[in-house]
Amino acid sequence: MSAIIVPDLPRHYPVLLKEIISIISPQYGGTFIDCTFGQGGYSQEILKYQDTKVIALDRDKDSKKKADIISEKFSNRFLFKNKKFSELDKIKLKNESIRGVIFDLGYSYTQIKDPKKGLSFNFMGDLNMCLGINNFSAKEAVNNLETKDLEKIFKFFGEEKEAKRIAKKIGKERQKKEINTQKLVEIIEKTKRKRDRKINSATKVFQALRIFVNKEISELINGLIAGTKVLKKDGILVVVTFHSLEDKIVKYFFKTLSEHKSISRYLPKLDQPETSFKLAQKKVILPSRKELNENLSSRSAKLRYIIKKDNSYQIKTDIFEKFDHLIQIENLGDKL
Ligand SMILES: C[S@@+](CC[C@H](N)C(=O)[O-])C[C@H]1O[C@@H](n2cnc3c(N)ncnc32)[C@H](O)[C@@H]1O
Repeated sequence: MSAIIVPDLPRHYPVLLKEIISIISPQYGGTFIDCTFGQGGYSQEILKYQDTKVIALDRDKDSKKKADIISEKFSNRFLFKNKKFSELDKIKLKNESIRGVIFDLGYSYTQIKDPKKGLSFNFMGDLNMCLGINNFSAKEAVNNLETKDLEKIFKFFGEEKEAKRIAKKIGKERQKKEINTQKLVEIIEKTKRKRDRKINSATKVFQALRIFVNKEISELINGLIAGTKVLKKDGILVVVTFHSLEDKIVKYFFKTLSEHKSISRYLPKLDQPETSFKLAQKKVILPSRKELNENLSSRSAKLRYIIKKDNSYQIKTDIFEKFDHLIQIENLGDKL
């Protein structure tokens, strides 16, 4: 009988890596900003090309361990900062000409299996969900926010159809005992009437809480704006998203930067003001079949990118107004 070789699942698999490298073309050298360093999958690949430099950011201080190892090897070409990417434009870039800014949103496998972070109901830990540099935890939110606020969070950040029922039940249960991860999962499982056979009952509420605790909506919007500012002419902004809310924001932002907001449809195209960015490809880029086979968790990844056409620093966008309803929900955290 021939033995079946089951390949070891990689501990960390940088999503859409090949596609990103082919878009940013590090073989021509230049400085790149890896806004979501994680386990350094993208940074290390870029640094393989001799004339490159990488400035890497991650809000999780645990990323620093990996960054230190890379720093030792590439001391004059690699710099790591334990910062949120919304602060990207406040970092001193010493006149670096930035060729690429890359975002790989969400969390890494290393983070999800860390029980201290409590990101997953599969690795039962504290009800925390903080990726780093946070103001409050999921436990504080679940145990202290008004139930109508919890309902909004579950509904808008998790697209949870039974948000109201779950929030109400949390309100009742927390009067008896503080809610922890286990209790939250139990409440969701007992409360939900409809079951989705494809995903765990708790998935949507967990996603919603993670977005809320880490202020992922305003982080993303501010990060995108900062990223587009620091890029030089011909620089590329690349974003990998993992859920529809993120992708909606990126898609809208790219559209507003690259399309003329028609002043008048009677005005000839030539008289319309120039846009500062161009979309090289309108269609979203998805993982290949090979990648999906090797790393199932890449299945929800979507890649979009945009190219800067000039050296302007000011970005005109109405993205804050467009997503104000979501930012208002994030701001409910100010009550804690
Ligand atoms: C999907 S992982 C990135 C993996 C990375 N591309 C690699 O190949 O190793 C996402 C990372 O982004 C970080 N992150 C998420 N939101 C952030 C933010 N607002 N600012 C900085 N880092 C953030 C997380 O802590 C996590 O380490």
